[in-house]
Amino acid sequence: MELLQGIESRRSVRGFVDTPVPEETLRRILQAASHSPSYTNTQPWEVAVVAGARRDALSELLLDLARTGTPSSSELPAPAQWPVDLASRAGEHNARRFRVLEVERDDAGARNELRLMNYSFFGAPCVLFLFMDSTLSEWSSFDMGLFAQSIALAAHDLGLGTCLQASLTHYPGAVRQFLGLPPSMRLMLGISLGYADPAAKLNRYQSARKPLDDFVKWYR
Ligand SMILES: Cc1cc2nc3c(=O)[nH]c(=O)nc-3n(C[C@H](O)[C@H](O)[C@H](O)COP(=O)(O)O)c2cc1C
Repeated sequence: MELLQGIESRRSVRGFVDTPVPEETLRRILQAASHSPSYTNTQPWEVAVVAGARRDALSELLLDLARTGTPSSSELPAPAQWPVDLASRAGEHNARRFRVLEVERDDAGARNELRLMNYSFFGAPCVLFLFMDSTLSEWSSFDMGLFAQSIALAAHDLGLGTCLQASLTHYPGAVRQFLGLPPSMRLMLGISLGYADPAAKLNRYQSARKPLDDFVKWYR
């Protein structure tokens, strides 16, 4: 796939078939992503690949926490308040996903179902958890974002779909305990990964982009 075409055609996948992803394919994706740039080439990323029975058990654990209303203890702070234009784009994103699902926006049950789908990894047979050392700064968070995008693009090139998920950072203690990892590993992101289900309603949703001239100023 041509690079620009790959960048522009990648989109979040929120419905997967249960076909397992071969280990060789996962290795190819992660190998490619390891070429991501990082601050002074520090390569802060550490990855847990979870599939099969372990994936099912972890999904159950997270679903239990989410269903019972356990508050998020994500180690990534969210802003106290989003700036107005960003909040408006987030609102539009949520509204359009509801439209695709043909549910009313004020349908609390449907909203909750959509939220819970995050913890079943939208049906993906594989999920990646990205960690970095807890002493690192925002520079390394930046590197983690680049690494995550490389995973998404490499997967896309190989015919797989991904969904990058902040929601999978909501219960870091439970994830670390399940995986037998120390508290020094900060959970940065979860990525559901697999083959897209063309029949999944949510995969009909395509996010919009603000126009170039809304975010670029030219000085010349
Ligand atoms: C850091 C980050 C966290 C995200 N968290 C979630 C999430 O928890 N659940 C979800 O369904 N999508 C999540 N997304 C996907 C975004 O909603 C998506 O990237 C955005 O709407 C643009 O759509 P696109 O990826 O299809 O281009 C996340 C994306 C990023 C970069």
